Amino acid sequence: MKSGWSLKLHPFYFVILETMERYGVPTIFAIFGVTGDLAQKKIFPALMDLYIKDLLPKKFAIIGVARRGLSKTDFQNFVKEAVLQKKKYRANAIDGFLEHFQYSQGQFDDVSTYEKTRELLDSIDQSWGQCSNKLLYLSVPPSLYELILNNLADSGLSVPCDDESGWTRILIEKPFGKDAETAQKLDALLGKLFQEKQVYRIDHYLKKQTLQNIMAFRFSNTIFEPLWNRKYIRAIEINLLEADTIQSRGSFYDSNGALRDVGQNHLLQMLALVAMEQPQSMDCAEVRKAREGVFRRLKKYSKKDVDRYLLRAQYNGYLKAEGVKKDSQTETFFSVVSHIKNKRWRGVPFYLTSGKALNESRVEIVVHFKDNTPGSFMPEQYQGQEANKLTFVIQPDEKISILFWIKKPSFEDKIEPRELSFSFHEANTEHIDAYQKVLFDCISGDQTSFISTPEILYTWEYVMSIKNIISALPLYKYEVGSEPKDIKKLQANLKTI
Ligand code: BG6
Repeated sequence: MKSGWSLKLHPFYFVILETMERYGVPTIFAIFGVTGDLAQKKIFPALMDLYIKDLLPKKFAIIGVARRGLSKTDFQNFVKEAVLQKKKYRANAIDGFLEHFQYSQGQFDDVSTYEKTRELLDSIDQSWGQCSNKLLYLSVPPSLYELILNNLADSGLSVPCDDESGWTRILIEKPFGKDAETAQKLDALLGKLFQEKQVYRIDHYLKKQTLQNIMAFRFSNTIFEPLWNRKYIRAIEINLLEADTIQSRGSFYDSNGALRDVGQNHLLQMLALVAMEQPQSMDCAEVRKAREGVFRRLKKYSKKDVDRYLLRAQYNGYLKAEGVKKDSQTETFFSVVSHIKNKRWRGVPFYLTSGKALNESRVEIVVHFKDNTPGSFMPEQYQGQEANKLTFVIQPDEKISILFWIKKPSFEDKIEPRELSFSFHEANTEHIDAYQKVLFDCISGDQTSFISTPEILYTWEYVMSIKNIISALPLYKYEVGSEPKDIKKLQANLKTI
């Protein structure tokens, strides 16, 4: 007879343990650069949503650190305004949320700012009678990272108050460095001040639901994975298209450009998810290793490839934006044809395109399967037409669709394309903003969808191999509202899908 007892622990037990870790220990969020755009647009609304869903630790405090002189009430009103911009919340929910906020004013180059902040954190710990978890969030321009990191160390803020009961973790935004050397330097500094398990390097694209779904989709459906290779796939397109201009980010954008701003990170991470080998397990180290594996095999360019595989352009009017140099050669649009040197993908082009000030905002990955080969059921007049296509729409909808062919329901022998699709919205699944996942995973100690050091270095090496030769190309000009395909036509030799 089967005994009711088993030594094997039910998975639910681990869920409870993990949940206890997340909820049980009080947590202080210290946000540096709290009056900036990112905090207003992303971090406060994400914290508010987690609060409403009861996904924040039971006891928590949020300390804003910035230069601006604000009283606690001013600061709470500032947060309230930002949160209400996103959606309406019940008045008592907002009031309850705001009670958790306090402000610590000071200059980032002044050690006393950090000392004062540490005293505030200590006093909260004392009032809770416990060493709490500390989540330090650098929501500041990258030029301040080094300064702030050194000051965090000098003031003791980087050190957990007790190794056993409370962790200290650091969240750091992209761009992580400007090239492989600066990224390495920044990483070395982080490595000196923190252990790797404390460091969370953000690429918020990895936290988008539709992107997180790619691995699940690929590795849980046997009908696709066997076809996921050069034998059946003709090309893969990855598009991050934005209708917005650079808005008020002139000086940041001008010293980076589109390739650094979204190419080195968001586009390459999308590429990794769609092209990676199946990880040995879903453990953080294995998944990161699988992403790294793609970056390691990216084929570098040579000068002869330049106008077939790379294009750069800038929208008209960019030079008038505040903070942009009048003769700037910075690209606001790029198209790159990438190749991966491995058995699975040899010869398959990956078309990576991104730009600002375009005719639409759309983020998608399109997998183009090979054309119908002669001899297939396809009547001759349809051969060579668009074959099956699998599209992951990341924005504006969150959707997966498959284009396939059927015989037209009629007396005629004709075939026509149709679509099977799954929309997250129509399925009434809740939209979870990427920044909610950033914070949630950091509190839970899950580093899987944060970037590792090798990923940072390989992606910079690749992007710099592009940057180094793309400058030999003309910088084409395009009108605000242009279609990407029209911009690509400006370069006659460019390989397009
Ligand atoms: C940021 C870039 O990382 O990503 C911006 O700096 C870009 O230039 C943004 O607009 C796009 O993110 P999302 O989530 O709005 O698609």
